[in-house]
Amino acid sequence: MEDKKLIFSGIQPTGTFTLGNYIGAVRNWGPLQDEYNCIYCVVDLHAITVKQDPVKLRQNTMNAYALLMACGVDPQKSILFIQSHVKTHAELSWILSCNTQFGELSRMTQFKDKSQRHADDVNAGLFTYPVLMAADILAYNADLVPVGGDQKQHLELARNIAQRFNQRYGDFFTVPEPYIPKVGARVMSLQDPTKKMSKSDDNPNSCILILDDKDTVIRKFKRAVTDSEAEVCYREGKDGINNLMSIYSTITGKDFASIESEFAGKGYGDFKLAVGEAVADHLEPIRTEFDRLSKDKAFLKQCYTEGAEKALRYSQRVVSKVYRKVGFVDRT
Ligand code: TRP
Repeated sequence: MEDKKLIFSGIQPTGTFTLGNYIGAVRNWGPLQDEYNCIYCVVDLHAITVKQDPVKLRQNTMNAYALLMACGVDPQKSILFIQSHVKTHAELSWILSCNTQFGELSRMTQFKDKSQRHADDVNAGLFTYPVLMAADILAYNADLVPVGGDQKQHLELARNIAQRFNQRYGDFFTVPEPYIPKVGARVMSLQDPTKKMSKSDDNPNSCILILDDKDTVIRKFKRAVTDSEAEVCYREGKDGINNLMSIYSTITGKDFASIESEFAGKGYGDFKLAVGEAVADHLEPIRTEFDRLSKDKAFLKQCYTEGAEKALRYSQRVVSKVYRKVGFVDRT
């Protein structure tokens, strides 16, 4: 690979991405390929830390892979693969877990949340989830990791694990930095704009899925909760309108001032329709490309097989050196 910085990121195969996943993360993955060497991964090993239906998991993993391509990740430019295909992740995870303290993992807020939400299945994998994530990143000595706010603590832990390993065994791992995208606001629920947009929300109108068809997108935006004023402007306390303005701004590239003047004197109905149409038009080519790719299973398979080969070759070099460092006997 050329001498560019290396980006690593992963996404869970939990079904169709939401507009929040898209604006906050995946949308940036394509453009990053021109500036960086990129390695992207569908993290199915992480997914089974909560109960999964095997048939759905397989389907969701394939769909996530195709969706990433439909959103602009090019398997010729990046390494795009499925986590369970590359054994080095699990191997390195074990070694890193022996360099991670129980206390550190106990402090992870996502573990605390998830163990409450899945109280009937607080399994060890849920607890060591962040170690596997550290292994994903460190197996490639990635420089930069694009992460949203909810993963910052996990990335911080990955940095600590890398530093501790380096102190113990001699400088080896690159200590990864968070990559903060230039644009990409947090997308909030359309029904309760104080909460993050989420697929698991009980109200399906709160969340746009990137494969929603045009009518569905427009209908959901029309029903978006706003406020009792009638002024499209970005201001504290106008959570609903602020959210719609951020979405409209990231999709169209218009800044807040020009959006305010575009809708001066117009009602919220016009504004919501405009946001809905802009989003639907933006998502349409993604949906078309996803449909096309989904029909071409042989091509997808070729892409993820080659992706896994490249990822294995790359990470094997790193993990073999780790094996030497910790004192395992050379196999050959
Ligand atoms: N934990 C991340 C999430 O749920 C997904 C993930 C797994 C990841 N491994 C990663 C993200 C490595 C960045 C780097 O969003």
